[in-house]
Amino acid sequence: MDFPPGPRLPSLVQAGLVTASPYGWMIRRWRRYGDIFSSRFPIFGRVVYVADPAEVKRVFTGDPTVFHAGEANTLALGDALGEHSLLTLDEERHMSQRKLLLPPFHGESVRRYVEVMAEATEREVASWPLGKELQLRPRMQAITLEVILRAVFGVRDGERMDRFRERIPPLGELTSVLNWMPFFERDLGGLTPAARFRRAIAAVDELIYAEIADRRAADDAEQRDDVLSLLLGARHEDGSPMSDIELRDELMTLLTAGHETTATGLSWAFERLLRTPRVLERLTASLDDDDYLDAVVKETLRVRPVIVDVARKLTRDTEVAGWRLPAGTLVLPAIAVLHARPDLYESPGEFRPERFLDGGAESYAWIPFGGGVRRCIGASFAQVEMRTVLREVLRRVRLRAPSQRPERGVIRHVTVVPGRGCRVIVEERLAVEPAAEAAGAHNGRPGLADAPGEVAVRGHD
Ligand code: HEM
Repeated sequence: MDFPPGPRLPSLVQAGLVTASPYGWMIRRWRRYGDIFSSRFPIFGRVVYVADPAEVKRVFTGDPTVFHAGEANTLALGDALGEHSLLTLDEERHMSQRKLLLPPFHGESVRRYVEVMAEATEREVASWPLGKELQLRPRMQAITLEVILRAVFGVRDGERMDRFRERIPPLGELTSVLNWMPFFERDLGGLTPAARFRRAIAAVDELIYAEIADRRAADDAEQRDDVLSLLLGARHEDGSPMSDIELRDELMTLLTAGHETTATGLSWAFERLLRTPRVLERLTASLDDDDYLDAVVKETLRVRPVIVDVARKLTRDTEVAGWRLPAGTLVLPAIAVLHARPDLYESPGEFRPERFLDGGAESYAWIPFGGGVRRCIGASFAQVEMRTVLREVLRRVRLRAPSQRPERGVIRHVTVVPGRGCRVIVEERLAVEPAAEAAGAHNGRPGLADAPGEVAVRGHD
């Protein structure tokens, strides 16, 4: 069977090029080969990128028994997340698990976390030194990790939560190399990144299982509204409760998928804002304008998508965009290309939130959260969190970039992060207006959770 055109370089070289320049590589390949092109990578084998909105729609809405996202995700994430994770499951088991997990991440439920998000931001910003250069990405990770821990386990401060805060960040750092380098999969006496990664996973597992055991023993799930309590009360279609291992895999999924991605999105928002003075000025002057704040978040996720592609593995020979592709091929909607197409976005390289103010994007032209039955369940949560953190930071400090040179995107595990970690200098602390403070403390920054998070983009279901 023929494959669509694509580079003939050895797979390891192609992996190196993607890692070094994920956005640029994909866009250049599209310009050269067109809306459907192939590549080869270690571990993943032959992959086919799809960069046309109508074809992407067909992939996202295609038969889930043919387009397996779970099998595809297992290649990169299976070792960490296990086989009962929403990300690694397919077909009926995926849908039944998705039904259990969706309610706490629904727009309405997310509203409850706005206060937690604002508090975590306030505390973090208070610790930033004045006049010194600092990297924002780890600071954003500290905020989003705190928030996801509270959402998943409830408001439980204490030693175990501190240990989660110590043990989770190394997971993200260690997985980067493992994606592409099969050699490092070996243990070699505990010295390789894979061996350290397995130890890091075991350390987090220990905490998760302890939390599950405590919660089962406490038997107060009905009075609590955190995600773990909801899952303890949830039942499969046959009436059985979730087992410990199922709970562990879902909690690990939420803890990892739910914080690095959002922290990276926030880092890019600051990276772009500090290099686009017109937008930063308008946003700072109108922090209570939820529509503009929402447009800034959407434009950030468009121009610097945190995840550049999503994967579906074909379970049988299937026609995609006019090509008959063999079973086993990975088909990848090319998020980074769609977001940079000049026929979909005027001057696509410019950071211009206004484009999302009137009407938003065409269907399947804005897909930072993927699509179809696999669309990110944390999309509302992430957007509310990005709006809240942006607003709370900009109310409290004036930031400056040490250099106007844009930070390049580089791959860290599955996300694309600013290459220098989003470097900033805190120039000044601002007096927080008491009126706004009182309103916020009262009802969770009015409007934040109501901003038109999902409305402006059509056609994802
Ligand atoms: C800016 C932040 C985020 C981005 C860019 C993002 C992006 C994505 C993408 C691209 C997918 C794959 C969709 C597909 O295959 O079509 C995904 C899936 C997923 N995300 Fe997110 N995500 C973010 C935040 C979150 C948060 C905050 C959570 C949880 C609280 C979360 C949990 C998940 C889960 C559980 C899935 C698997 C869904 C399924 O397979 O049914 N994500 N996300």
